[in-house]
Amino acid sequence: MEVIVAKSAGFCFGVERAVKSAYDEAGRENEKIYTYGPIIHNEQVTNDLAKKGVNIINSLEELESLDSGTVIMRAHGVSKSVYDKISKNVKVVDATCPFVSKIHRIVNEESSKGKHIIIIGNDGHPEVEGIKGWAVGKTFVISSEQDALEFADEMGASLCIVSQTTFNVKKFHKLVEIIEKKGYNSSVVNTICDATSKRQAEAGQLASRVDAMIVVGGVHSSNTQKLYEICKNECSKTYLIQTVDDLQDFMLAGCNVVGITAGASTPNNITEEVQNYVRRKF
Ligand code: F3S
Repeated sequence: MEVIVAKSAGFCFGVERAVKSAYDEAGRENEKIYTYGPIIHNEQVTNDLAKKGVNIINSLEELESLDSGTVIMRAHGVSKSVYDKISKNVKVVDATCPFVSKIHRIVNEESSKGKHIIIIGNDGHPEVEGIKGWAVGKTFVISSEQDALEFADEMGASLCIVSQTTFNVKKFHKLVEIIEKKGYNSSVVNTICDATSKRQAEAGQLASRVDAMIVVGGVHSSNTQKLYEICKNECSKTYLIQTVDDLQDFMLAGCNVVGITAGASTPNNITEEVQNYVRRKF
C-alpha cells in the first residue's frame, strides 16, 4: 500500500507558538500558570502541561476569582472585555495568533467607522466569540448558505465581512457571493489564514487521488472538521480519527493508496504513529 502524508499536516505556526509559550511558562517556579481554555485541542499535550503545573481555566468566573499568577491566552484569542479583565489582576502572556489579532484590529477599526460586521464562521467557536468582542457595533455570524440567504440588516448599514481563520475557503467565497447579491455597501477581507488555505488545498488535492483518506485531529477542532469536510467531498472513504487507536482495519481494506493529513493542533508524533501503523499493517 502506498501511503502519502500531506506536507502541511500538523502544528501550524500559531499553535506551535502558543504551545511553546505554555512550555516556556511551565518552567517558572513559585508561579501559578493557567491557560484560558485548553491551549490546543489535544489531550496528550494538555495532560503533559498539567503535570508541569499548567492548569486550564474554563470560565470567566474562575478567571475573575484569580488574584495572582500568569494566564496564557491561547491562539484563538479572546474578546476585548475578557482581555481587559484578565490583565487587571494577573500577568498575561498573549499567545493570540497574529492572524487572529489582525482580525481583531480590522473589526475594531471598521466597526468604529459605523460599519456592521459579518463574521463568516461558526457561531459559538471561541475564535468567533473573541472576534465579536472587538466590534463596537452590531455583528452577525454566518456559517451556512441558509444563513447567508436569510441575512438582512434592517438598519442598512455598510458592512465589513471577515472570516474565521480556519473557515473553508470555497465556502467563504460562496457565502460572500450570496451576501453581496443583496446590494449592501460592503467591504470584504478574506482573513482565512495562509496555513489554513494551504492545508485545505493540499488535503483536497490529496483526497482526490487516493482510495482512502485519514484526517488526524481532535473532534472539537474546527480546522480538523473543515479538513474532514473537504476530503469527504473528494473521497467517500474519508475517516476522522483522534489517534491510531481509532483506526479500524475495515477502513483501509482493499485500498492501494492512502492519504493522511492532520489538523493544525495535532502533534507530529500522533500523525507519525498513524503513518507507521498503516505502513506496518497493510
Ligand atoms: Fe494562526 Fe492559522 Fe494556526 S490563524 S493558529 S496559523 S490555523
